[in-house]
Amino acid sequence: MAAVGAALPLRFDGKVVLVTGAGGGLGRTYALLFAERGASVVVNDLGGNIKGEGKSSSAADRVVEEIRAKGGKAVPNYDSVEEGEKIVQTALDTYGRIDIVVNNAGILRDHSFARISDLDWDLIQRVHLRGSFKVTRAAWNHMKNQKYGRIIMTASSSGVYGNFGQANYSAAKLGLLGLSNTLAIEGQKYNIQCNTIAPTAGSRLTQTVLPQELVDALKPEFVAPLVIWLCHESCQESGSLFEVGAGWIGKLRWERTLGAIVRQEDQQMTPEAVRDSWDQICDFENATKPKSNKESISNLYEVLNKLNTKRGVSTNPTSGSKQTSTSGINPAEAVGKKIPFTEYTYTNLEPILYALGVGMTTKDPDHLKFLFERNEEFSCLPTFGVIPAQGFMNGALASIPGLNIDFTKVLHGEQYLEMYKPVPTSGTLKSEGVIADILDKGSGAVILLDVHTYNGKDLVCYNQFSVFAVGAGGFGGKRTSDKVKVTKNPPNRPPDAIVSDVTSVDQAVLYRLNGDWNPLHIDPNFAAFGGFKKPILHGLCSMGFAARHVLKQFADNDVTKFKAIKVRFAKPVIPGQTLETEMWKNGNLIHLQSKVKESNEIVLAGGYVVLEESIYKAKSNDIGMREELQSDLVFAEISRRIKDIGKELVKKVNAIFQWDITKDGKTVGQWTIDLKNGSGELYKGAAQHRADTVFTVSDEDFIQVVSGKLNPQKAFFAGKLKVTGNIMLSQKLEMILKDHAKL
Ligand code: NAI
Repeated sequence: MAAVGAALPLRFDGKVVLVTGAGGGLGRTYALLFAERGASVVVNDLGGNIKGEGKSSSAADRVVEEIRAKGGKAVPNYDSVEEGEKIVQTALDTYGRIDIVVNNAGILRDHSFARISDLDWDLIQRVHLRGSFKVTRAAWNHMKNQKYGRIIMTASSSGVYGNFGQANYSAAKLGLLGLSNTLAIEGQKYNIQCNTIAPTAGSRLTQTVLPQELVDALKPEFVAPLVIWLCHESCQESGSLFEVGAGWIGKLRWERTLGAIVRQEDQQMTPEAVRDSWDQICDFENATKPKSNKESISNLYEVLNKLNTKRGVSTNPTSGSKQTSTSGINPAEAVGKKIPFTEYTYTNLEPILYALGVGMTTKDPDHLKFLFERNEEFSCLPTFGVIPAQGFMNGALASIPGLNIDFTKVLHGEQYLEMYKPVPTSGTLKSEGVIADILDKGSGAVILLDVHTYNGKDLVCYNQFSVFAVGAGGFGGKRTSDKVKVTKNPPNRPPDAIVSDVTSVDQAVLYRLNGDWNPLHIDPNFAAFGGFKKPILHGLCSMGFAARHVLKQFADNDVTKFKAIKVRFAKPVIPGQTLETEMWKNGNLIHLQSKVKESNEIVLAGGYVVLEESIYKAKSNDIGMREELQSDLVFAEISRRIKDIGKELVKKVNAIFQWDITKDGKTVGQWTIDLKNGSGELYKGAAQHRADTVFTVSDEDFIQVVSGKLNPQKAFFAGKLKVTGNIMLSQKLEMILKDHAKL
C-alpha cells in the first residue's frame, strides 16, 4: 500500500490556495503549479514596482488568464497583503474555503544601514512581516475549524546570514521565521502546518543583485516543487526552514555548543569568568541540536540543578547538556557506578525546617519536640534521612556514564528509606551513592539509586530512589531486579486509622527550602511547561506527611521505633489540598496509602512503614516487648487525653499510677501515668517518682477492662488484675479511663 501511495502524483483537487505576490517571479510559478495539480488558486498581486510603489491589476490578471487558458481554476485579487482579510475574503467568496496560504509577496528597498530611511524600514516590515501576519491571521480560524491548513513563509538567506545593504529586509525575513516557528506549535493540534523557505531564483528582485546568467539559470521552477510538497496533505513537516534553489533543497536547524558553566553556586558571575571560558563556550565539538524551547530551557534547568547540588557533588561543567543530545542507556557502563561521598553539614535549623515542611505545627503539642531545639526530647523526624541524600537524584545522576537520558523527562517514581540510627539533630553526615540497577520497562527505564548515609563510621540510613526516565526504555535490559524494594498492597479491609492534614498553599515553597530547588514546585510557568496546571508538591513532602501520621498513630512519635518506609508516588498533589493517610496495622508493619481528599485520588500507593521492635525494646527499660501490645494503643489515647486536660486531672486525681503489662506471666510493658507532678504526663517505663498504685494485668485483660467487657472488681477478685499500693485511688483511675479514654 505504502509503495502505491508514494507513487501517486501530489494532487490538490478541492483545495483552495492563496498565493500572495503571484503576479510574477516565484509566486506566479507556484500559482501555475498548484492550478495544474487541481487546486483553485487566488492569484494575489498589488502590481506595484520592485520598491513597492504604484499598483496595477495587470500582473494578477495575466497569471489568472494563463491558468484558465490551461483549464485551471483561478481568481485574481489586487489588494496589498496589508489587507489580508480582503484577500482571504476573495477565496471564501469565490471558492467557499481556504486551505493553503503561500506568503510570497515582497519588495526591496536596499540601502546600507546608515542610509535606511524610516519609510524604507517601515515599508519593508509592512509588506513582508505585517503582510504575512495579516493574510495568515485572516485564514487561521478557517483552517482551525476545518482542522486542515498549510502555510508557507518566505524568508531569505539575507535574513539567515545577513547581507550588506539589506538590514531592513534581513530583519523582516528572519522575523518571518520566528512567526512560522510559533505558528507550527500553535497549529499542531489543528493539523495546521507552517514552514519557511529561503529561496534563490531569478526574478525581477534578483535581477539587481545577481549576474544575468545566474538569473536565467536559477529558474523559479527549481523552487516551486518544494512549496507544493510542503503544502500537500500527506506532508507532515512543520516548523522547519529550507534553503532551496537550482533544484537543490537543504534543511536548516540550530546547533549549540556544549558551552560552559561560568559561575559557581553562591558566587557572583563575572565578565572575567566569561572571558576565560570563551574558547569552551564557542567550541562546536560535540555540539547539540536543540529542537524546542523546552529542550533549550531544560539545559538551564540542569545547570541550576548542578549548581544547587550543594556540598560538593562533583559536576563536570563541560558535560553541561550532553545528556539532552542523545538518548540511550548502557547498563553495563552505569550499573555499579559509585557516586562519590558528599558531605551534608547542618544545624538544628534544618530538621526544624524539615518538620515545618512536612506540616508539623505547634497546634499539636506533640510536635514541639520536632520544632523546638530546647525541648527535652528534641528529635529529627526519621524521614529527614532523605535530605542528605536527595542531591544524588539531581546533578549527580547526570554525571554517570551510560545514562544518556532526557533529564526533563525524569520522574521520581518510588522511595524507600531504612533507618539504622536516629538521625542526629545536627552534625555532618556523609553519603555515598551507587547505581544499584537499571530496569527496562519498555516505555521507560527505572534507575535504582541506592544512597547510604553515615555519621562518622555509623550507618544512619539507606535510601533507594527509583527514578523513572520516560522514553528511555527499550535498551534490551531486564524488567525486574532483586535490588528493588517492592511496594506492598494494603489489606482488603477498611483502614484501621485515617489521619488527614490540610497542606498549606505554600507547602511546596516551604518544603523546597530543604534543598530541592526544582522550579516545578514554585514557578507556575515551569509547572505549565511540565504539563501541570499549578506547581506541585514534592513527592517526598507527601511522604513526610504520611510518615509522621504513622509515627504518631502507631509509635507515639518515638523516632527510635521508625525502621523503614516505602512509597510509590502515584499522582501529584497541589499545595493546599488535603492529604489523607489511611493506615492498616499488621504486626509491626503499617500499610499506608495517601489520598487527596478533594479528589479522592491515591497519591501515595503501596506504601508501608516498618516499626522496629528491637529499638523499641532498648527504649522501654529493656523490658522484652516481643511484639506490639494492644494496650499500647490505649496508652497512646490516654496520653493524648492527658495532654488535653492533664492540669485538671492533676488537681482532681493527684496520684502516680504504674502499669505493668504482662504476657504469658511475664512483664512485657510498663507505663506510668503521673497525675501529681506538673501538668500530668504519661511515659513508658516504671515510675520515676514513687508510684501510689501499681497495677499488674495481662495485655488482653487490660483491653477487656478498658473496653468495659471485664469489670475491674471482678478482675481483681479473679486475680486477673493485681493492685499494690493505694487501692482506693484506682477508682479515680477508672474515672479517667471511662470519661476520657472513650474506648
Ligand atoms: P518578484 O518581485 O518577482 O515577486 C514579488 C511579487 O510580490 C511581485 O509581483 C509584487 O508585485 C508583489 N507584491 C509586492 N508587494 C506586494 C503587496 N504589498 N501586496 C501584494 N503583492 C505585492 O520577486 P520574487 O523573487 O519572486 O520574490 C518572491 C518572494 O521571495 C519575495 O518575498 C522575496 O523577498 C523572496 N525571495 C526571493 C529570492 C529570490 O532569489 N528571488 C531570494 C530570497 C527571497
